[in-house]
Amino acid sequence: MSHPTTSPLAAPAAALPTASVEAARRRSAELEDEVRADPRRFRVLTGDRPTGPLHLGHYLGTLANRVRLQRAGVELFVVVADYQVVTDRDVAGDVRGHVRELLLDYLAAGIGARGGAGTAGEPPATIFTHSAVPALNQLMLPFLSLVSVAELQRNPTVKAEAAATGGRGMSGLLLTYPVHQAADILFCGANLVPVGQDQLPHLELTRAVARRFNDRYGAGQALLSEPEALLSAAPLLLGTDGAKMSKSAGNAIALRDDEDTTARLVRSARTDADRHITYDPAHRPEVASLLLVAALCSGTSPEALADEIGDGGARRLKQVVTEAVNEHLRPLRERRRALAADEGYLRAVLAAGNAHANAVADRTLRTVQEAMGMTY
Ligand code: TRP
Repeated sequence: MSHPTTSPLAAPAAALPTASVEAARRRSAELEDEVRADPRRFRVLTGDRPTGPLHLGHYLGTLANRVRLQRAGVELFVVVADYQVVTDRDVAGDVRGHVRELLLDYLAAGIGARGGAGTAGEPPATIFTHSAVPALNQLMLPFLSLVSVAELQRNPTVKAEAAATGGRGMSGLLLTYPVHQAADILFCGANLVPVGQDQLPHLELTRAVARRFNDRYGAGQALLSEPEALLSAAPLLLGTDGAKMSKSAGNAIALRDDEDTTARLVRSARTDADRHITYDPAHRPEVASLLLVAALCSGTSPEALADEIGDGGARRLKQVVTEAVNEHLRPLRERRRALAADEGYLRAVLAAGNAHANAVADRTLRTVQEAMGMTY
């Protein structure tokens, strides 16, 4: 997922052959039709690493899409990938605090969680943490036996991460985390995974793990189902410094930020010297990104907004962006504030999600162990 809404664990999009991306795009369009026709056939696994609060890019790119899928009637499993935090850093940091922030962002964005107020008739989302689901993690052992080291070393994200370790050398967890992600997806039988295009290799690996397990142990039965990628049309949003918006770069507008902070951050955003505002992503990326943010928040097109602003310059553009963002996020932020005051509620949601994830993971592990003859 090399668009801005995704983790730093992302590969350069150029690593992928165009033909396979196009095939995935075509298949995703079909899948969107199938979701509309029969949402109950689908289970989605998605998630985030708890490394900080989510920002506008996450919201417009992935969070809103999850809410859309759930409202359409699809069942969600959302992993708060706490074990994955230590793939590319030495210590987990304030992981407890970050898990709480993530939970607040999910619930405030409108994900209807198991153990919470629920949703209007849709299946509730199971929000869970890696570390609370032992059977999920145990699946990693047999799954690791199904992939080669060379295969992992070829994974574009692993490669990019290894290059970014600055000569420190790569941990075993970093090398194998695509298999851990496969376990996230396969334990719950998710058949649909929303991804950016640079995460396609992960999904291919997950499919390979399922296929190889079935071939080796299934006796003609598909014990594990091969998930499909739902390519997200996430917009390319830049941070206030003109670089990709990201949690770690400190250039993002967090969902939890208040309206004044939002105004200040937008005012500090980089633009260019041309007073006349036009939507020209190729030549004016910073201005284009601001227009896109405002357009996505106010349900209009960036071209129309540019026309409206015209000679109003960066000053007017930033006023428009600030108003659009604050307006759009107001209900979310209100919900977030209310939820933040209710620790019991947050605890109940995570407890219910973890309990359900454990029940599902225990069943899958049992199936896997039975197929391998490991029941005593
Ligand atoms: N790597 C994802 C992120 O950092 C989180 C994640 C963990 C995930 N397991 C997954 C995403 C399985 C999709 C499928 O945001």
